[in-house]
Amino acid sequence: MAKLVINETKVLGEIAPEIYGHFSEHLGRCIYEGLYVGEDSDIPNVNGMRKDVVEALKEIKVPVLRWPGGCFADEYHWMDGIGDKKKRKKMINTHWGGVMEDNSFGTHEFMELCKQLGCKTYVNGNLGSGTVQEMSQWVEYMTFDGVSPMADLRKENGHEEPFTVDYFGVGNENWGCGGNMTPEYYGNEYRRYQTYVRNYNSKKPIKKVCCGPNSGDYHWTEAVMKTCFDHVPEEQHGFMDLISLHYYTVPGPWSDKGSATAFDDEEWYKTLKKAYLMEELIRKHSAIIDQYDPDKKIGLSVDEWGNWFNVEPGTNPGFLYQQNTVRDALVAGITLNIFNKHCDRVKLACIAQMVNVLQSVILTEGEKMLKTPTYHVFHMFRHHQGANLVDSNITGTGETGTGEFMVPEVTESVSEKEGIYTITLNNLSLTEAKELDVVFTEKKSFEVVEANILSSADVKDHNTFDEPSKVTEKSFDGYSLDGGLKVTVPAASVVEIRLK
Ligand code: AHR
Repeated sequence: MAKLVINETKVLGEIAPEIYGHFSEHLGRCIYEGLYVGEDSDIPNVNGMRKDVVEALKEIKVPVLRWPGGCFADEYHWMDGIGDKKKRKKMINTHWGGVMEDNSFGTHEFMELCKQLGCKTYVNGNLGSGTVQEMSQWVEYMTFDGVSPMADLRKENGHEEPFTVDYFGVGNENWGCGGNMTPEYYGNEYRRYQTYVRNYNSKKPIKKVCCGPNSGDYHWTEAVMKTCFDHVPEEQHGFMDLISLHYYTVPGPWSDKGSATAFDDEEWYKTLKKAYLMEELIRKHSAIIDQYDPDKKIGLSVDEWGNWFNVEPGTNPGFLYQQNTVRDALVAGITLNIFNKHCDRVKLACIAQMVNVLQSVILTEGEKMLKTPTYHVFHMFRHHQGANLVDSNITGTGETGTGEFMVPEVTESVSEKEGIYTITLNNLSLTEAKELDVVFTEKKSFEVVEANILSSADVKDHNTFDEPSKVTEKSFDGYSLDGGLKVTVPAASVVEIRLK
């Protein structure tokens, strides 16, 4: 009999809420249409932000939002996006779809959105094509509480009080779209630029994010860390709070990544196997970081992750609009369980992207909105935010899959908060339900507080604007408490059980 063994006496760390973060770029219909429609829109909004979307996002407790990119960040000049909207510069978003960017969503609008969501702010600066002065002035504009040219400009633009910048990214993907730099060159640039990302408010210090590797590029991690730590006295080690990791699950080659909704069994397992690689990436990059930071003061920020498929047929290839099925739910569940289990090092993560781009939690069409299967996984997993990770493992199970694409049958993570244990399980098999005996070290009596499941008759099922609730979270009753807790996790499902 397979077992889920939980040693509740062994607490492994706190799961940072920011692991459940999101990413919003000036790309396709993520910001414009998806989140922001402007004050004059017929779509109900508060200060330009869609009411329906903000309401839905509040239900999943978005902890942090990253903006304005992505590749867009290293082409973004923040001064174009402040002041009178009618006078803001228009430009072509050359990176994404060649469409007009009117800069009507800028710094103040981003801060307003985060205020409405009640989340932390993660602003990504421009190192690739911007100057040290430009980056330094943006930080001064947003956070300086006193008399200074930039603080005065912010006040003239209607915001007397400084904004809070919780995280600041010093460039994005500088190994690629952010300047095609070598790790040594970027490491030196990071040292220089971050010097001028000043902490004007010692009570709310900005956490600085260094640009880390692309998936399995271990050389980048090693060389950036080496360069950054060369000749840096101990007391200055706070110059890097986090280092990023970007990893997308792409089933096929870039030229044909695969369809989001039409896939066979082999592609199911191939996708899940590629998603599961996240575990190895975190482990191996962490081992390199450990050499420079054995006390784990530097967090790993997996600030771009998720499935990347071919765009929906007939849509702008530069908009990266894709549908979302039960397969996406499994990738989200697998990845979030991995992040939970690595909460000693992973301190922040952002799924790409929040609305209408890549593995979104929400899709919109005009005034319509739908929640994707991925949304429901974030909703089920929200109880892990800020909870204590407890030791757990699954015994008596093996692997499932086809040919070279073998994956664990079931993955899990378990956390505790205020006496309630949240168990999240993914059954990766397309065909076999899995029965698990749940065994705690000391706890012998259980009461199920709530249990939910995400699954569907066909793993290719997805929500459409005609049928927006085909795949949703449902109440789960596949457990029994007679003679201990037993859970039967259906094939291809994500399950959450909360116990006390
Ligand atoms: O999320 C889409 C793009 O993927 C981002 O702009 C970039 O950082 C990454 O390559």
